[in-house]
Amino acid sequence: MTDDNTADKPWGGRFTESTDAFVEAFTASIGFDQRLYRHDIAGSIAHARMLAHVGIITETEATDIVAGLEGILADIEQGDFAWSVALEDIHMNIEARLIERIGETGKKLHTGRSRNDQVATDLRLYLRDEIDSLCSALQRLQTVLVDIAEREADTVMPGFTHLQVAMPVSFGHHMLAWEAMLERDHQRLLDARKRVNVMPLGAAALAGTGFPIDRDFTAALLGFDSIAGNSLDAVSDRDFVIEFSAAAALVMMHLSRFSEELILWSSAQFNFIELPDRFCTGSSIMPQKKNPDVPELVRGKSGRVTGHLVSLLMLMKSQPLAYNKDNQEDKEPLFDTVDTLHASLRVFADMLPAVTLQRDNMQAAALQGFSTATDLADYLVCKGIAFRDAHEIVGRAVRFGIDNARDLSAMSLQELQAFSSEIDDDVFAVLKLEGSMAARNHPGGTAPAQVRKAVSAARRRLQQD
Ligand code: ARG
Repeated sequence: MTDDNTADKPWGGRFTESTDAFVEAFTASIGFDQRLYRHDIAGSIAHARMLAHVGIITETEATDIVAGLEGILADIEQGDFAWSVALEDIHMNIEARLIERIGETGKKLHTGRSRNDQVATDLRLYLRDEIDSLCSALQRLQTVLVDIAEREADTVMPGFTHLQVAMPVSFGHHMLAWEAMLERDHQRLLDARKRVNVMPLGAAALAGTGFPIDRDFTAALLGFDSIAGNSLDAVSDRDFVIEFSAAAALVMMHLSRFSEELILWSSAQFNFIELPDRFCTGSSIMPQKKNPDVPELVRGKSGRVTGHLVSLLMLMKSQPLAYNKDNQEDKEPLFDTVDTLHASLRVFADMLPAVTLQRDNMQAAALQGFSTATDLADYLVCKGIAFRDAHEIVGRAVRFGIDNARDLSAMSLQELQAFSSEIDDDVFAVLKLEGSMAARNHPGGTAPAQVRKAVSAARRRLQQD
């Protein structure tokens, strides 16, 4: 024996020299993959039971292995487990401890298995759990939005296109727009989950194993829907991580857009909302400042989640089959994506119910930009004028309003009639913000009656999901 340290390593047999100290640290993943401990142990327990089921190990050996793994799980949860960088990763840390605890029998656990199918299995089990809890977090935020929508169905705000006042809309309708986006995000996560919940175990290193394993048995124990159909694919591709990251990037893109609105609305220039003090911070130099840190940070964090998606795509794109160590790099972007999503969804769901609405300011803003001009054009169409001509007539009325600093609804009947003799005093009902809003009374429209229906439909859907 030389002074090499490889005797301690599960793969040390063919090596004659110690791992370089820096290389040991460079190649280790235990610093971050320890997060997979629960799923690694669950996978090992199922594997051991399967080995006994088909007679590769005895029932007594399986019982010892399972008890040993459960003991290790308890130790880790109590913070009573020293992670070893020399043992590289979560898989070898746990296996080495098992052998320490139960002796020779522990050495049989890795029969018919490789770290390659093991890590792919761990990651899928982990991601399945995280998708489920992210779906709950999304639903909590969706419910918050539906509650606000119901409360504010009659609240008028200016709707914008090009960030110019366009038409009056219900604030509740606006909230339901965000809810609709989050519902698609939710469906995307559920869809990705189907492709996550497939079991790689049995693929072993890359080609399968010569042992008479029963993959369906293991899959049933672990709650997988099916087993991976090709061993090379099973150990190598991380498309399920990429697909999840893409869905996550879309969630963050939506939250970022929403953040942008909250930031604009809470500015002195809009003054539509006030964010609760406990969700803001001040400035160290300007005493008057109250900054919308939470939405700003969420907007900022959307960048890193998109960055992780791009990292993962780049990580995967040049890898030949089958497993390559490159794949160890999938974990940090995935974990950070999961953490960022959890935090962002939570902070939004906590903050939104406490936002104060400046309803008068929203109403006043809606009156400023001739937001009922389209209603006047539609009114003229109902009186028999072609839409293009009506558009021209109203354009001239708006010009008059701009020159005289007056909204359409503030003009006299006589003034309005100068633009078209078809205008009558029934026009004022149409020019009011409430009238304009109530007129858009079809499914998907902003009429408060439709908003209430949409609220009920969303509640029913959220209960079913
Ligand atoms: N830590 C490794 C990873 O995250 C586990 C698989 C290692 N497999 C191997 N053949 N070195 O991918």
